[in-house]
Amino acid sequence: MARKIDYSALLFAAWFISFSIAVQHDSSVQRSFIIDYDNNTFLKDGQPFQYISGSIHYFRLLPDSWDDRLAKMRAAGLNAVQIYVPWNFHMPRPGQHRFTGSADLDLFLALAQKHDLLAIVRAGPYICAEWDFGGLPAWLLQRNASIVMRSSDPQFLAAVDEWMAVLLPIIARRLYSSGGNVIMVQLENEYGSTGQCDLAYIRHLYQLGRRYLGNQTVLFSTDNTLTCVAKERQFYATIDFGVDGTRSLKDTFAPLRALQPKGPLVNSEYYAGWLDHWSSPHVRVGAQLVADGLARMLAYGVNVNIYMFFGGTNFGYWNGANSPPFEPQPTSYDYDAPIAENGDTRYKYQLIRQVIKDATGRQPSPVPRNSSASSFGRVKLQRLASLLGNLDSLIVNRLDGKLPVTMESLGQFQGFALYGTQISEDFEAVAPSLTSSYSLRVEKVRDFVYAFASSNSKPSLGQFLGFISYAESAAVLNFTASDLSSIRNIWLLVENCGHVNSGPDIQGNVKGILGQVTLNGAPLYGWRSYSLDFDRLAAKLPYAKRLAASGEPQAAQASLYMGRLILDKNSLTDTYANLSTFCKGQLWINGFNLGRYWPCAGPQVTLYVPRAVLREGSNSVAVLELLQAPCLSDSSCKIDFLREPDVGFRSKSVADSADSLTYRGKSAVPSSADQLPTVDDERI
Ligand SMILES: *[C@@H]1O[C@H](CO)[C@@H](O)[C@H](O)[C@H]1NC(C)=O
Ligand SMILES: *[C@@H]1O[C@H](CO)[C@@H](O)[C@H](O)[C@H]1NC(C)=O
Ligand SMILES: *[C@@H]1O[C@H](CO)[C@@H](O)[C@H](O)[C@H]1NC(C)=O
Ligand SMILES: *[C@@H]1O[C@H](CO)[C@@H](O)[C@H](O)[C@H]1NC(C)=O
Ligand SMILES: *[C@@H]1O[C@H](CO)[C@@H](O)[C@H](O)[C@H]1NC(C)=O
Ligand SMILES: *[C@@H]1O[C@H](CO)[C@@H](O)[C@H](O)[C@H]1NC(C)=O
Repeated sequence: MARKIDYSALLFAAWFISFSIAVQHDSSVQRSFIIDYDNNTFLKDGQPFQYISGSIHYFRLLPDSWDDRLAKMRAAGLNAVQIYVPWNFHMPRPGQHRFTGSADLDLFLALAQKHDLLAIVRAGPYICAEWDFGGLPAWLLQRNASIVMRSSDPQFLAAVDEWMAVLLPIIARRLYSSGGNVIMVQLENEYGSTGQCDLAYIRHLYQLGRRYLGNQTVLFSTDNTLTCVAKERQFYATIDFGVDGTRSLKDTFAPLRALQPKGPLVNSEYYAGWLDHWSSPHVRVGAQLVADGLARMLAYGVNVNIYMFFGGTNFGYWNGANSPPFEPQPTSYDYDAPIAENGDTRYKYQLIRQVIKDATGRQPSPVPRNSSASSFGRVKLQRLASLLGNLDSLIVNRLDGKLPVTMESLGQFQGFALYGTQISEDFEAVAPSLTSSYSLRVEKVRDFVYAFASSNSKPSLGQFLGFISYAESAAVLNFTASDLSSIRNIWLLVENCGHVNSGPDIQGNVKGILGQVTLNGAPLYGWRSYSLDFDRLAAKLPYAKRLAASGEPQAAQASLYMGRLILDKNSLTDTYANLSTFCKGQLWINGFNLGRYWPCAGPQVTLYVPRAVLREGSNSVAVLELLQAPCLSDSSCKIDFLREPDVGFRSKSVADSADSLTYRGKSAVPSSADQLPTVDDERI
């Protein structure tokens, strides 16, 4: 086929090529970022350089806010940002690459450069970050649930090679030496937390880094366990630690210095805040403590990355979970960071800005204004048909077998799956139920199961039997039924609350029902396993089936609710949805999945609704409530849209009092600043 020649494009291309050659030629002389071991410093363009960086995760906010957050980070006096790259976010399915919208890594790096911020890229393949599966794609588990993650297992390495061949060239084009802003690249993260030390894997990553990023780029590791990666002396070793008012920096760095006697000191994660877990109080770290600790480090010449400088939000189903015990993180990743979830600059921000100004003698740019948020009042919601009444529009895949199959085998990498079986006709002979009380045992359910029963295989006639939470040790549900025929069909809706993001429990972390299901001791066989796509249904909720006008009642649990938020053009701002009349579920606005809510567990009560998901006129509000029906009579069901968030602010600040801090699965009560998470924490 003949193609029309576009001369203007050619001209532009010629200009562009000469321009880029000029830039490159110039940069090969001047632009360099290296380590000066003799003088214990980084050298940027031949001059000693100390970085003062902050962590921001481009995938935890919408791209229309990138510019605002970066401007605020620059205005705090930072000279760099540190980012993670989540493999699973960029590669949701094998062979599928996503680099647009919130996944436009290249654009984010370019914007940071526009704001005069250097970039420190933590490229994975594993990142932790309290992100689903620590950034690993759950489709690896579909290929083979026994793949040894973060190791030289050939199946894992092959997938890593494929991904790095896509990712690292993007980073290579943005290296500082090539005219971009990327000064350092980290591969893997806190490898010591695996409990394994597979040096073949670590060397393989190092070679990948060298192959794609050249032999000048600073490749580094972050790991407080100094007995594995750091001993190899390939990656430049850094550690991470939080506020510690008592320990000297000399002591803190001593173990690292013993291994790596020379080179600049780096704290890759200086904790300005801390993460939350459902059912535990919101954690805060005192602003003054953070500022004082930062001042000490800067004076000592430490290169610091503040984690998080801006935390953001786990939209959709992207939160991870710590384990053991299994503890998923909430939707807000506010982190008590200097910049709040919506972009507000906190008191902590002002203190840090002053510390940096004093330490560097540089006057930072003026602080951009806080983002505005509005109260939009009350939206009434109408209950639609239950989940089981909408199955035909939800099901995307089905596999039948003797036993339930894992979510990953179904190709369901996040969210929900449904399992259905029919109690056989001879059940009474196998497990007689004289008392009409039943005991349903579901072994090894990951992570939360909502149980229903119906008389025939038409699931819309379901009744709610109860739920089993991941937090319960006895996975048993007792219920009564007048006769067996009314519960002939058992339906188990299973929620994946987030893949484990750290430690040995990431291995084989498949979701669904992994063990046997028994009723009064007799095993149930013959399962249909369904993968469900709620996002698809939420996007076209007006077409969801309504409650049947007549007929048997439907279970109110796992039901869909719908309302409309009417906005005029001038009032499009951020807002917060107060979900405290609901209990546990998921919220969508205009089809955008804002994340999980669970005020019944807390600490988070409101969900952050960024302006970018709202539009002039009618906005569709969709709620999937799993546990409690707040409005069987239509009028009582509502969401208030507020000006202020509540992610658990009512819990007291750690700095103000001896509040309980959930740490490594145990409840510790820190009595002073030095008991805050420090050097040996590895969960980030
Ligand atoms: C770095 O150390 C070398 C050797 O000790 C010295 O000659 C040089 O002046 C130092 N450079 C800077 C920038 O301090
Ligand atoms: C799955 O992975 C394990 C661990 O690497 C390996 O031993 C096994 O052979 C793999 N199974 C298949 C079917 O490839
Ligand atoms: C860097 O890599 C290039 C190409 O692989 C090689 O020719 C060169 O010798 C290397 N330089 C150093 C200092 O190792
Ligand atoms: C910005 O918001 C924060 C947190 O909500 C508040 O503490 C601060 O005073 C606000 N700053 C300005 C300039 O309004
Ligand atoms: C459920 O019923 C079984 C058998 O009757 C009983 O042993 C068990 O304690 C009950 N569990 C709960 C949580 O009620
Ligand atoms: C959210 O709604 C609940 C129940 O209506 C109310 O008690 C609570 O004060 C509201 N939260 C905020 C932050 O306004």
